[in-house]
Amino acid sequence: MKTIRNLDLKDKTILMRVDYNVPLKNGKVADDLRIRSSLPTINYLLEKGAKKIILLSHLGRPDGQENLEFSLSPVADTLRKLLPEQKHIGFYPLPEKGKSIIDYYDKPDLKVILLENLRFDPGEEANSPEFIKNIIDSTGANIYVQDGFAVVHRAHASTDAVAKFLPIYTGFLVEKEAENLTKVLENPEHPVLLIIGGSKVDDKQPLIDKFSTIADQIFVGGKIAADGYKANNPKIYVSEDFDEDASGAKLDIGPVSTAKLADYVKDAKTIIWNGLLGKAEDPAYATASTIAAKLVGEKEDATTIICGGDTTGFVENLMKDNKDLSYSLISTGGGAALEFLVGKELPGLKVIKRA
Ligand code: 3PG
Repeated sequence: MKTIRNLDLKDKTILMRVDYNVPLKNGKVADDLRIRSSLPTINYLLEKGAKKIILLSHLGRPDGQENLEFSLSPVADTLRKLLPEQKHIGFYPLPEKGKSIIDYYDKPDLKVILLENLRFDPGEEANSPEFIKNIIDSTGANIYVQDGFAVVHRAHASTDAVAKFLPIYTGFLVEKEAENLTKVLENPEHPVLLIIGGSKVDDKQPLIDKFSTIADQIFVGGKIAADGYKANNPKIYVSEDFDEDASGAKLDIGPVSTAKLADYVKDAKTIIWNGLLGKAEDPAYATASTIAAKLVGEKEDATTIICGGDTTGFVENLMKDNKDLSYSLISTGGGAALEFLVGKELPGLKVIKRA
């Protein structure tokens, strides 16, 4: 993949695709992992003398309609806090067809501009070349940087059609995610442990199937295990005891299963964890997930990858009070990371490889 390293960025106007599809609560960003993860690339482009960085993202699924419930305005506020050295960060509507917005932002101290939700226009999800060409022409962009790893599984105008018009490069986040996940698939250090939790068995089964050949152990907890997941491979251990509420609902895995997981984690050299082990939003049932997060985060001799929004959010929260925890990759990838790990070709990466 073509990287921005060693690229002449001086005075360039750069379209940078990010994935700021973040959870909002009371009109504010509730989890800023995806925004923070884009900062190394933004800062690098600024250091190398880029003239303007135009950030492109979607948020939610507004179905091609302008709907302020899905506005990126709270994200612009968070960006302003995360980039305090920038005097201004612009936040503009999507440019109207044929209308340049260069005059609006042609001020020397305005370097970073976020455009409103791309999915306010049906052209984004329709992968419309006209839609993205209009953004390129209206902003005067001459380089495209893909740093929205979480959206590379979508063939949309800002991830796919854009490659028809601009030279295309990967940002540091896409590079970091792709490198770590590729290593797990192609050249992992053994023993490899896959930890699966959460509730949607249909989403997890492809990952379990794929890792049936790669992993040495697969540990299944969470609601999937509580619902009686049936393993079809001797490498798979399904949690065997549970912490129950008064009605008998199995809401966390129990001490026997947690001890088994601790043994696997102790020996593993590569760990991929996707899905919480219990109903961890309730502290009473967060015990196993907390133990797992600590054991995995304390390991110094292993590649450790956390993926899935609930799991990454949980781990990040725990890290606030446990500064010694660290992981090789806290993936921003959501669905894209899962598709990558099961070996699917992702349209947003394919165009970069082809370029
Ligand atoms: C995600 O959060 O998984 C990405 O932003 C993609 O969003 P989508 O599933 O609405 O395309």
